[in-house]
Amino acid sequence: MEKPKTVTCTAPVNIAVIKYWGKRNEELILPINSSLSVTLHQDQLKTTTTVATSRSFQEDRIWLNGKEEDITHPRLQSCLREIRRLARKRSKDGDPASDSMKLSHKVHICSVNDFPTAAGLASSAAGFACLVYTLAQVFGVEGELSEIARQGSGSACRSMYGGFVQWIMGEEDDGKDSLAQQVAPETHWPELRVLVLVASAERKPVGSTSGMQTSVQTSRLLKHRAESVVPGRMVEMIEAVQRRDFAAFAELTMKDSNQFHATCLDTYPPIFYLNSVSQQVINLVHRYNGHYKETRLAYTFDAGPNAVIYTLQQHVPEFVQAVQHFFPPETNGGEFIKGLPIEHVALPEELRQAIGLEPLAKGISYIISTKVGPGPCVLEDPTQHLLGSDGWPKKTL
Ligand code: DP6
Repeated sequence: MEKPKTVTCTAPVNIAVIKYWGKRNEELILPINSSLSVTLHQDQLKTTTTVATSRSFQEDRIWLNGKEEDITHPRLQSCLREIRRLARKRSKDGDPASDSMKLSHKVHICSVNDFPTAAGLASSAAGFACLVYTLAQVFGVEGELSEIARQGSGSACRSMYGGFVQWIMGEEDDGKDSLAQQVAPETHWPELRVLVLVASAERKPVGSTSGMQTSVQTSRLLKHRAESVVPGRMVEMIEAVQRRDFAAFAELTMKDSNQFHATCLDTYPPIFYLNSVSQQVINLVHRYNGHYKETRLAYTFDAGPNAVIYTLQQHVPEFVQAVQHFFPPETNGGEFIKGLPIEHVALPEELRQAIGLEPLAKGISYIISTKVGPGPCVLEDPTQHLLGSDGWPKKTL
């Protein structure tokens, strides 16, 4: 048997500060507005994917987090088809590096997330970005790949780059101009920190794909947002990032998250993603900023109750103390803070009083502390492959 060609890559999670919500084309995943996100560091959160290809494979197959999944899923099929199409084009154009024989070979795909699905983080963004990036390596496809990742999951196109990334909505019907683009690299704003406040386990009520469909059909506020609010905010947000103006960045981030959740409430029947823990986090952030008469913290929420906090490095220890005070964690159980280590400081009494909220026990199960990070990358060490040398999942999975 010939040895399969095997490649393993990793890809990051991204958290939008100007939200994508609503499609103008469901099949191609074309959005009704542009969006902008921050790529999180893969030392804390990532997807790892191995793709193997061999003449001896009978069919395309996929294993996600140790379990075989249905390869006929339309979005998976879109990504596979588009990568093969680009590879075929390249080989027809006479690129000597492309191996036309390999194009007809089937693939085995194995992928794992190193963060709990319960954390409610956009695992589909990192997952599809990693899939497309790895397939492109296997089939020798280069160039613009965000257009393909977009067809797996809209937000996945932004995980194809590190740093600060915009997804330009585009105008064309075929989606050729609906692409992700880096606004600033991960080195641009070294002091920026990201804290994921994981709200205690609760099931996600409505998935983003179906939620945004209902919003597009019923919310006039969403239409107003997409047409009249987001275009101006994109310009302001890009300027805030370029100037490293935290107060401007933070205010736009919070207002955009709030407006996104307002469009969810304006959807009929309404969609509720925020819960009482989310509301307490929102109050905590505003009272904290109010006490210092300076915008030091920003929150943002996606299609679930977990808060993502953006702040600067120097404010992290004190804010984390405030979180621990106002959300007393369960005493037994794992560590409360995961990821980048955080120095221990005392919570100033006047800050505690100024916030003055009633503590909500066990509302937050843990915090993931991270920062801005790079885009997808290839793992060169073959011991990190998730598929064995025969191209099948390793027994340890
Ligand atoms: C609230 O990218 O998950 O996180 O394109 O249908 O797969 P599909 O949706 P998805 O939506 C993400 C929505 C969001 C906002 C954002 O990430 O911009």
